[in-house]
Amino acid sequence: RSFFRSLKRATYTIILAGVGTFAYYAYEGRHPPEQLPQDPSKKTVVVLGSGWGATSLLKGIDTEEFNVVVISPHNYFLFTPLLPSVTVGTLDGRSIVQPTRHTTRFKTRAVQVYEAEAEHVDPINKTVTFRDNSDIQGRVGSVTINYDYLVYSVGTENQTFGIEGVKKYGCFLKELGDAEKIRTKLMDCIETAALKGQTQEEIDRLLHMVVVGGGPTGIEYAAELRDFIESDLVRWYPEIGKKLRVTLIEALPNILPMFSQTLIKYTESTFKENSINILTKHMVRDVDAENVTVKTPSGEEQKIPYGLLVWAAGNTARPLTRQLMAALPEAQKNRRGLEVDDHMRLKGAEDSIFALGDATATAFAPTAQAAAQQGAYLARVFNQLARVDVLEHKLEKAKKEGASGAEIQGLERQIEKASRIRPFKYSHQGSLAYIGSDKAVADISFGGTQNFASGGVATFLFWRSAYFSMLFSLRNRSLVAADWLKVYLFGRDVSRE
Ligand code: FAD
Ligand code: NAI
Repeated sequence: RSFFRSLKRATYTIILAGVGTFAYYAYEGRHPPEQLPQDPSKKTVVVLGSGWGATSLLKGIDTEEFNVVVISPHNYFLFTPLLPSVTVGTLDGRSIVQPTRHTTRFKTRAVQVYEAEAEHVDPINKTVTFRDNSDIQGRVGSVTINYDYLVYSVGTENQTFGIEGVKKYGCFLKELGDAEKIRTKLMDCIETAALKGQTQEEIDRLLHMVVVGGGPTGIEYAAELRDFIESDLVRWYPEIGKKLRVTLIEALPNILPMFSQTLIKYTESTFKENSINILTKHMVRDVDAENVTVKTPSGEEQKIPYGLLVWAAGNTARPLTRQLMAALPEAQKNRRGLEVDDHMRLKGAEDSIFALGDATATAFAPTAQAAAQQGAYLARVFNQLARVDVLEHKLEKAKKEGASGAEIQGLERQIEKASRIRPFKYSHQGSLAYIGSDKAVADISFGGTQNFASGGVATFLFWRSAYFSMLFSLRNRSLVAADWLKVYLFGRDVSRE
C-alpha cells in the first residue's frame, strides 16, 4: 500500500512539475524584457527574409554588438515541413507560424523589423532598397538604407518553365496563403461537383486532383489529400468522395529521387494501395483552365482534365537574386543561385554580404535543414566578429592609455585568435517524408557515412515527433498538438472558408 501511495505522490509531483514548467515558459513567452535601443556607433546587419535561414540566424545572433534590421514581405517564420498538413485542415495555418517579432523582441538590443520586399541590393555602395507591397501602404514609397553586413536569405520562387497557365490556373505550395488557397479550391471543386444538374463529364473533371512534381512537396501533398479523402470526405460526401481521383505527374523515371530505391518502391506501392495514380516519364507542357497537356513516354501529347492543379515542380532564383548576380557578373555565373565561399560569403562581395539557404547554389540540397544550419553558423560568425570588434576597441584604448607591451601583445594575440573563423560544415541528418495513411519514409544518416532506410507507421511516429520537437516555440508545439488532437477526436473540417 505504501508503494502505491509513493507512486501516487510521484505521479502528482511529475504532473505539477510539468504544469509549473509549462506555465513558467508560457508566462515568459508573453513578457519580453526591456531591450537596449539601437546604437549608431555599432555596425548595421541587414537581414533579408524571415524563413529558415534568417530565423535561425536571428535566434543565435548576439544583438548587443550590432544594430539588426530585418526586411521580409512576411512578418513571420513559416514551418514549411508541416505546410502540406494545412492544405487539408489537419493543421491550422496559424499553428505553424512564428511571428518574427516574437523572435526579435527577446534579443538584448532592439531589432528593427520591416514588413516589406527588398527591390534592389547595391553591393558596391552597400545599400538595400525596399518597399511595402502589402494592401495598405501609407505614404512611404521605396526606402533605401545602408548596411555594414547584409544577410541574404530570400529563398526561391516556384519554377514554372515559362508555362503561363501554371500561375493563372494552378496552385503552388510554398507560402501559407498557398495552402489555404488549395483547401478552399478543393472544397469548391467538391461542392460544385455536387450541384444538381452537373454532367458526368464535368463531375469527373472537377473531382480529378492533379499534382505536378514527384519531389517531396508533391508527394506529401498527394499523401495528405488521400488521407483527407479516406478519413473525412467519403463520410460527409458519400457519393462524391468515392469518385475523387488523385494523379501525380512526374517527368523523371521515378519519384523522390533523393531517397533510396527501397523507399521509392515502398512509396510507390503505398500510393498504389491508396489509389493514387503515378504517371512517371510524363512531362507537363501546357496548362489551361481545365486541362494539363503532357508529353507521354511514347512522345505523344495527351490532355488530362483536372479540377484542382497543384504545381510542385521545383524552384528557381527570385528576380532580386538574378539582379544581384547581374551586379557581380565576374563572380556570379551559376544560374542555379548565388555562389558563396565556404564561409557563406557572397563571391564578389565577400567583405559585406553573406548568402544562405535556397538562394544559394551549393553542393547540398536546398532544404530547411541546410538553411537552418547555415543560419546558426552565421550567427556564430557574427558573434565572433563582434568579439573581434570589442577587442579592437580595447586595443585602441590600451594603446592610447600607454599600456605595457605585454598587455598590447596579449590583446593582439586574442584578436588574432578570435579572427580565425572556421568554414561552414554541413551535417546531413537524413531525409524524411510523409507518404499517407500514417506512414512515412526516412533515409537517416549516421555520422555522415552510414545510412538507415525505413518506412512505415513507426517511421511516421518518428516523423511526427521529429518535426514536433523542431517547432520553434512552446506556443507552436501547443497549437500543433491541439490541432492533432482535434482532428483525432472530431475529424477535419469540410466547410469552405
Ligand atoms: P525560405 O524559408 O523560403 O525564406 C525566404 C524568406 O525570404 C521568406 O521569409 C520570404 O518572405 C522572404 N522574402 C522573399 N522575397 C523577399 C524579398 N524580396 N525581400 C525580402 N525578403 C524576401 N526542407 C526540409 O529540410 N525538410 C522538410 O521537411 C521540408 N518540407 C518542405 C515542405 C514544403 C511544402 C516546402 C515548400 C518546403 C519544404 N522544405 C523542407 C524546404 C525548406 O522549406 C526550404 O529549403 C527552406 O525554407 C529554405 O530556407 P530559406 O531561408 O533559404 O528560404
Ligand atoms: P523538387 O525539385 O525536389 O521536385 C520537383 C519535381 O518536379 C522533380 O522531380 C521534377 O522532375 C518534376 N518536374 C519538373 N517539371 C516538371 C514537369 N513539367 N512535368 C512533370 N514533372 C516535372 O521540388 P520540391 O518537391 O518542391 O522540393 C524542393 C526542395 O525542398 C528540395 O530540395 C526538397 O528536398 C525540399 N523539400 C524537402 C521535403 C522533405 O524533406 N520532406 C519536403 C518538401 C521539400
